[in-house]
Amino acid sequence: MIDFYLNGQRQQCADISPDTSALELLRVYLGKTGTKEGCASGDCGACTVAVGEPDGSGGLAYHNANACIMPAHQLSGCHVVTVEGLARGDALHPVQAAMVDCHGSQCGFCTPGIIMSLFTLHEGQRHQPAPLTQERLESALGGNLCRCTGYRPIRDAALRMGDYPDTHPTWADDPDLPRNVETLSTDATRMSQSAPEAATGYTAPRDLAALREVRRQQPDARLVAGGTDLWLEVTQQLKSLDEVVDIREVTELNGIEETPHGWWVGAAVTFRRLEPLFTEHYPAFAHLMHRFASSQIRNRATMGGNVANASPIGDTPPVLLALGARLALDGPEGEREIPIDAFFLDYKQTALKAGEFIRAIFLPHLADRQLKVWKLSKRREDDISAVLAAFSWRLDNGVMKDVRLAYGGMAAIPRRALQAEAALEGQSPSRAAFEAARAALRHEFQPLDDVRGSSEYRLVAAANLLERLRLMLEKETSHDNNTTEICLDAYAH
Ligand SMILES: Cc1cc2nc3c(=O)[nH]c(=O)nc-3n(C[C@H](O)[C@H](O)[C@H](O)COP(=O)(O)OP(=O)(O)OC[C@H]3O[C@@H](n4cnc5c(N)ncnc54)[C@H](O)[C@@H]3O)c2cc1C
Ligand code: FES
Ligand code: FES
Repeated sequence: MIDFYLNGQRQQCADISPDTSALELLRVYLGKTGTKEGCASGDCGACTVAVGEPDGSGGLAYHNANACIMPAHQLSGCHVVTVEGLARGDALHPVQAAMVDCHGSQCGFCTPGIIMSLFTLHEGQRHQPAPLTQERLESALGGNLCRCTGYRPIRDAALRMGDYPDTHPTWADDPDLPRNVETLSTDATRMSQSAPEAATGYTAPRDLAALREVRRQQPDARLVAGGTDLWLEVTQQLKSLDEVVDIREVTELNGIEETPHGWWVGAAVTFRRLEPLFTEHYPAFAHLMHRFASSQIRNRATMGGNVANASPIGDTPPVLLALGARLALDGPEGEREIPIDAFFLDYKQTALKAGEFIRAIFLPHLADRQLKVWKLSKRREDDISAVLAAFSWRLDNGVMKDVRLAYGGMAAIPRRALQAEAALEGQSPSRAAFEAARAALRHEFQPLDDVRGSSEYRLVAAANLLERLRLMLEKETSHDNNTTEICLDAYAH
């Protein structure tokens, strides 16, 4: 049973197959066709809805999400708002009114998705007003494509939406709605392993013991966290998923725990929740998040899913390799811990054994080390890397120590450049040392040619990113105030 609220009304949908998307549930089962399907792959944002979850203080916090790649069963215990749920009778919501007045829509196909992304931004502004900077607007709207209006009028609408009377949707009059949603979301029997639910093939254990048991019983069932990779198998490869185990609600996979040496991040923690930790302790990682997918994806996707997916062009694996992260693996046979270097075996092959899963990822403190991450992709927002470089090192009396250079997009797996590391280890950051490191890259990588870049491009780009590191270090040590690094950043930060 998918038990949730839609535009203030409770919905209980039974017998929904495990691979149904939230978009299909809304459009086909519930007739809410205002939400559109464009790409069905999380890229265009036409299917964007607002998902409200209890905020811990008696209210609901809304985030935007791509309904096309969201499992319908993950709507359970939420309040979903679609474009049909915003106007109050004839009175448009401020976001809609601003879009009309600023001429933010032509063909209108992208418009419901844009409205819903703006709605979540507007909700955020109502609760925590802050300047709508260019960066915030890009972050809010980076996952919404518009092919005919052009972005300036949409941006104008975003900047003006706060000027309109705050017309609440009708459902906002119901003071019991947040409590009712909370009751649903904390209902221990919801989406649990009850017999009728298991019969639909979608299981959502609430704790580690239950997850281990489900894995023991169904070692071949597909795990889902945010679904932002897995659901593409349904929408793009047209696969059926008969058995799905949802790990999002497993308590032990949702913690961020500090230890004297670093943080254990639960595998089900979303990138959105990681932002404060990254901002405070790993600025280079925080920086990367501006380039990672879109707000819709970051709101749902997890680092556990990014690592387990083992894509050679996934963004966090090279960073984790550069940091020297560790993984806590778990399963019916018990727990074990491995360095991330031992996780990626071959293209999309990992060290996970049958029934095993990633429980948590350990991020060591940077301490006196430095971390730099550069992502090269064709588009700035919502694009996959052609090459991603993550470099970590420390300077000890002018000499580079503990050098770790990791790349994505350069091999069948995310990998460290061990020979290039050896060329730099124990050396001052001189031209000669970096020249040797750059030359070593050619021996240790034979990257693929594909739509994102030729093999030669990737080799040249990877070497150039090392040269960028050298220039950055040269600038740091010479206390030079020129704008070299800023110019470099402007191209590919
Ligand atoms: C439009 C779009 C843009 C994207 N942009 C980027 C980008 O810029 N950079 C990038 O790196 N990625 C990007 N991605 C890919 C994706 O968003 C990330 O890989 C994301 O981190 C996956 O996390 P998830 O929680 O959604 O994983 P899911 O899709 O739920 O799972 C991914 C895979 O891992 C398995 N899995 C999940 N959790 C576990 C676990 N704890 N243990 C074992 N197996 C597990 C699943 O069974 C599945 O095979 C993009 C995807 C889309 C659709
Ligand atoms: S339909 Fe394009 S992002 Fe969902
Ligand atoms: S209004 Fe036509 S795609 Fe945006």
